[in-house]
Amino acid sequence: MTATPRHILVTGAGSGIGRGVSIELARAGHHVIIADVNVDAADETVTLIEGGSHTGTAVATRIDVTCADDIDRFFSSAAGQRVDVLFNNAGLQHVAPLESFAQDKWDQLIDVMVKGTCMMTRATLPGMRQRGFGRIINTGSIHSLIASPFKSAYTAAKHAVHGFTKSVALETADVDITVNTLCPSYVRTPLVEKQIAEQAIAYNLPPDQIVDRIMLEPMPKKAFITFEEITGAIEYLISGAARNLTGQTLVIDGGWTAR
Ligand SMILES: NC(=O)c1ccc[n+]([C@@H]2O[C@H](COP(=O)([O-])OP(=O)(O)OC[C@H]3O[C@@H](n4cnc5c(N)ncnc54)[C@H](O)[C@@H]3O)[C@@H](O)[C@H]2O)c1
Repeated sequence: MTATPRHILVTGAGSGIGRGVSIELARAGHHVIIADVNVDAADETVTLIEGGSHTGTAVATRIDVTCADDIDRFFSSAAGQRVDVLFNNAGLQHVAPLESFAQDKWDQLIDVMVKGTCMMTRATLPGMRQRGFGRIINTGSIHSLIASPFKSAYTAAKHAVHGFTKSVALETADVDITVNTLCPSYVRTPLVEKQIAEQAIAYNLPPDQIVDRIMLEPMPKKAFITFEEITGAIEYLISGAARNLTGQTLVIDGGWTAR
């Protein structure tokens, strides 16, 4: 079955998972709206898409997901008139014991990943309702389900995303809209590269041991998750085959949470 081309808004698409998935989605023929607080990075993603093999299209836009003005501006613009799929992906990590966790960092993680997900979802839903179709995919993590030391803000935010998803799934069950949480374990992105150094300090281990002893150790499959795997899950969630799959978490974790 050929996938129906969709207009897909990806937040945090200037780097890592957002960028990798956007490239794959454009390759598969979708129109991808590349949103990031860092507009140069968003533009770079579009350049990568246009320079590679793609049957779909891409446009870049600056959206800080915590900024109501940015969100209003986008949804009043031509690009914002049709969003079939919202991939709430923007996020960040900070690793530190709670006692030395800077409060402004803690607040920022919650603002971007919880409040940002809420604000983007709220702004997208009226158009989806009007068109009678919508798919919202919120980026959770295995930290939506389990916890790690030194990640109190991230774990709190990702657990919150899981709860938020379930509530909004119930609120939108009267129309062909689904809301789900995608929960990958480690994907090798700039967010993870930065953590290798931070975790080396927190665990008092050399950086080269963090990947094997901390990151991949709890994963029975012992492999990073790839952009292609995440895109495959998204393609499934936005397909007709998943129209009754809502309020769920799709966990791609190499068996981590089966232990
Ligand atoms: N990399 C992993 O192992 C992993 C695993 C599970 C979940 N995740 C989640 O996936 C998402 C993407 O992570 P990544 O590893 O690709 O990170 P990344 O750091 O490579 O990319 C994050 C992007 O989000 C953007 N961003 C940050 N704050 C923003 C804001 N206020 N508004 C708009 N954009 C903003 C950044 O500019 C950046 O381009 C995050 O939600 C993260 O928690 C990552």
